[in-house]
Amino acid sequence: MKTKFYEKCDETELLEAAQILKDGGLVAIPTETVYGLAANAYNGDAVSRVFEAKGRPTDNPMIVHISSIEEIYPLVTDFPEKAKALADAFWPGPLTMILPKSDLVPRQVAPKLETVAVRMPSHPVAKRIIELAGVPLAAPSANSSGSPSPTTAQHVLHDLDGKINAVVDGGECDVGIESTVITLATDPPRLLRPGGITVEQLESVLGHIDVDPAVISELAEGVAPASPGMKYKHYSPRAEVYIVEGSLESFRFLIDSEAAEGDMALCFNGEEASVGIPSLPFGDVDDLEAQAHLLFAELRRFDDLGAKRVFVRAPSSEGVGLGVYNRLLRAAAFKILTPPVIYGLTGQTGAGKSTVAKELERKGYLIVDGDVAAREVVRKGSPVLTELAEVFGSDILDADGELIRAALAKKAFANETERQKLNAITHPAVTRWSIDFIRKNLTDSHKGVVIDAAAIFDSDIRFYCTEMIVVTAPESERLERILKRDGITHEAAMLRIKAQKDEQYYKERADILVRNYAPYNLADELDSL
Ligand code: TXA
Ligand code: MG
Repeated sequence: MKTKFYEKCDETELLEAAQILKDGGLVAIPTETVYGLAANAYNGDAVSRVFEAKGRPTDNPMIVHISSIEEIYPLVTDFPEKAKALADAFWPGPLTMILPKSDLVPRQVAPKLETVAVRMPSHPVAKRIIELAGVPLAAPSANSSGSPSPTTAQHVLHDLDGKINAVVDGGECDVGIESTVITLATDPPRLLRPGGITVEQLESVLGHIDVDPAVISELAEGVAPASPGMKYKHYSPRAEVYIVEGSLESFRFLIDSEAAEGDMALCFNGEEASVGIPSLPFGDVDDLEAQAHLLFAELRRFDDLGAKRVFVRAPSSEGVGLGVYNRLLRAAAFKILTPPVIYGLTGQTGAGKSTVAKELERKGYLIVDGDVAAREVVRKGSPVLTELAEVFGSDILDADGELIRAALAKKAFANETERQKLNAITHPAVTRWSIDFIRKNLTDSHKGVVIDAAAIFDSDIRFYCTEMIVVTAPESERLERILKRDGITHEAAMLRIKAQKDEQYYKERADILVRNYAPYNLADELDSL
C-alpha cells in the first residue's frame, strides 16, 4: 500500500484524511502527546487493521479519541461526577479516562474488557480530523509495537510506511510522552500510566488517588495488570538500555569502569562532553517538560547511530518526570544500575586525613589510598615511568630502572610548566588505577568508596567524587602533629605547611567538613557517613 503524506494540514487535506477514516482506512494523526494511528472507533474491522499494522498484541486495548464532550455519551454507560470534573479541568489535553464501556464500542477496541479508554486531544489537527470524520477515532500510538512512540511524522513513516493509508504531518508533538491514564472504575481512582497531567494535578481535582504499583515497578510473574499495556516491554530502541541512578560523578565512574565499544549515553544538557562516551542530551537536568518532549526522539536516534548499549542518567520522577521515568524503566526492561557513592577525602598536612580514612574504613568504606596509587603507576617498567623518562630525561631512573623520586621532583617542581607536564602524565594513570582498584575490591558489603588523596582538587579523580570530605584542624595543632609524627625541625614543618594551599581553599571546595580537633569528637563529625 502506498502511504499518503499530508503536510499542509489545510482543510482540503484534512477532509481527505477524514474521508479515508470514514471509509475504514488507517491514518496517523498528530496529537499533543505522540502521533496516533487512527481508525473509526465504531468500525471493528478497521480497528483490527490497526493491530495488524502495528504488530500489536490484540489484547492491548485502544484509546478512543473525541473532539467534543457530547461524543463521550454513546461510548460509556456512566460518566460519573469525578470524570466530569477531570474533563472540565484537563480536556482537551493529555489525559485518558477509563470508564464503563457501552455496547456500541466494538469488542476489538477493548477486547474482553468492560471498560473503554477515552481522551479528548488538544492538538488542533487531531480535533479537526475527528470533527470532519464525524466519528470518534480509536488510536494507539503510531509506532511499531514495542518501539519508542513517534513524536514526528518521520518517526511514523520509519515504522509504518506502506502499512497504513496516510500520515498527517502536524509537526513535532509538544508533550512527547503519551497521555496520563487514570481509571475511574476503582475507588479511589487509580493512575495506570503517568504522563503530561501529573499526579498532583489529578489530586487537586479528585483528592487522593492511588498510583498503580506497576507505574514504577516490574509486574510480578503471573499478576494480571490493571492495564494490559503495562505488561509489555515498551518504548525500546534496539540498543540495551540501562538506567544509572546517582550523580553525574557516579555516572562517570560507571561509564569509565564498564564502557565498551558501541556504548552511548543519554544525559542532561551540558554533560555531553564530560561523560566519556558519545552521548545525546535530553534537556536540562531540572527541565522535566523538555525531557518528556525529547525522550522518544532521542531513543530513536540511538538506533540510527548504531548504539549497542545506552546508559541513561536517571531523571527526576517528580511531576511530569514520573512519566519520563516510567517510560525509561520499560525501555530498560527495569535494568537499573546503582554505582557506589564515592567520597573524596583530603585536607591540609597534619589535619588528620589518615586518621579519618581509618575511621571510615572501620565504618565500612573501601579506601583508595592516593599515595599507593601514585606509587603503583610509576613502578619499574610501567608505561608511565617510561613516558616520564622520555619527558624529564633518563637520569630520573637508577641503574635498575627504578624511579629516583628526588631526581624527578627536582625537575618536575622546577616551575609550573614542568609541574603540569608531570601531572598530565601521572594523573590519568592514577585515576585509571583507582577505578580499577575500586572495580576489583568493592563488594556489596561496602557502604561506599573513599578516595584519600592530598591533591584531589588538582586530580581528575575529583570528577568521580560525588562529595568532598575535607578534614580540618587549626595550624598550631597541625604543626604539633607534624613535629611529633615526622621528627623534623620546626622550620621544616612550617615550610611544609606554608607550601600548601590555605585553609580557605580547602573549605571552599568542601561538601563535608570534618573538624578533627578538640573539643570536637571525630565519631560525631563522621556520624552522617
Ligand atoms: O497520548 C496517548 O495516549 C496516545 C495518543 C495517540 O493519544 N495514545 C496511546 O495509545 O498512547 P496506546 O495504545 O499506545 O496506549 C494506550 C494505553 C495502553 O497501555 C492500554 O493498555 C491502556 O491505555 N488502555 C486502553 N484501554 C484500556 C482499558 N479499557 N483499561 C485499561 N487500560 C486501557
Ligand atoms: Mg503505545
